[in-house]
Amino acid sequence: MNRDNQDRWLSESSTSNFIRWKGSCASRRRPVGDPAPGTGVPSIPRTDGTAPQSARVWNYWLGGRDHYPADRLAGDRFIGLYPKIVDVARHSRAFLARAVRYLAGEAGIRQFIDIGTGLPATDNTHEVAQRAAPDARIVYVDNDPLVLAHARALLTGTREGATDYVDADLRDPGRILAEAARTLDLDRPVGLLVLNTLGHVRDDDEARSIVGHLLDGLPAGSHLAVADGTDVLTGEAFRTAVDMWNQASDTPYHLRTPDVIAGFFTGLRLLDPGVVPVSRWRAEPDPSGEPDEVDEFCAVGRKTS
Ligand SMILES: C[S@@+](CC[C@H](N)C(=O)[O-])C[C@H]1O[C@@H](n2cnc3c(N)ncnc32)[C@H](O)[C@@H]1O
Repeated sequence: MNRDNQDRWLSESSTSNFIRWKGSCASRRRPVGDPAPGTGVPSIPRTDGTAPQSARVWNYWLGGRDHYPADRLAGDRFIGLYPKIVDVARHSRAFLARAVRYLAGEAGIRQFIDIGTGLPATDNTHEVAQRAAPDARIVYVDNDPLVLAHARALLTGTREGATDYVDADLRDPGRILAEAARTLDLDRPVGLLVLNTLGHVRDDDEARSIVGHLLDGLPAGSHLAVADGTDVLTGEAFRTAVDMWNQASDTPYHLRTPDVIAGFFTGLRLLDPGVVPVSRWRAEPDPSGEPDEVDEFCAVGRKTS
């Protein structure tokens, strides 16, 4: 994108402007990409820095540094419609840390597959796991080229442990398992993390089938952790913001209900406290009281046979 177009894109600063901009795309030169054939909706290139992408916007909400102007713009417009998204992202990341700490500690898990890795942030899975168990081995999986480019920052860790990165689509669980087997012993229990990523698969049955396929390749004693945005606490505002995101990005996201999230754990033993807002999963005691509930639910379950 040239500087003029970028400035014009950036100057569209309010949500209503954004929606108007969407409506007027067809009639003036578009700031990003060409319209997708027959839709009038931007077709957004993946890596040229002009299209908002899930991993980068998430990184922006988490207070990270790996994002482009288009991500900040989309992130800010999302916040304009749904300010709680920042709490959702931060509570979700704290859930990741608590869940991995539990798995590597109390549950004795030494191998992890983290699908939908995202960009490096505080408390990446290998850091949390290897703090508890220095010999923990972690395989990160993502399909975003920018995440791949940053993977070297993730491919560090303890001398006793290991980290690896697999460039693969969540929808290809057979390949994920085959590639993970380079680094992990899939005859031993694995902690499978799919956080804020199943929402990128629109169809519930397909998402369930992906999770089932992955779990079928892992032995008893393995654990599944899932977290995803829901639409039961804040409803319309979250849905509106997600709809806006879905029109602008080529990584659309779909809110689910806690019941559908619970369905991913069918056949597993659900650990306490069950399917709850991420902020409430084994939250650290806080003298000021329980954390607010946020509209993203999570759970951890154990494969027993
Ligand atoms: C919102 S970020 C979540 C990052 C991290 N799991 C967390 O919870 O902090 C979603 C991640 O899923 C990845 N992703 C989206 N669709 C995917 C797919 N079909 N296959 C693999 N990764 C995908 C994105 O590239 C992004 O890194």
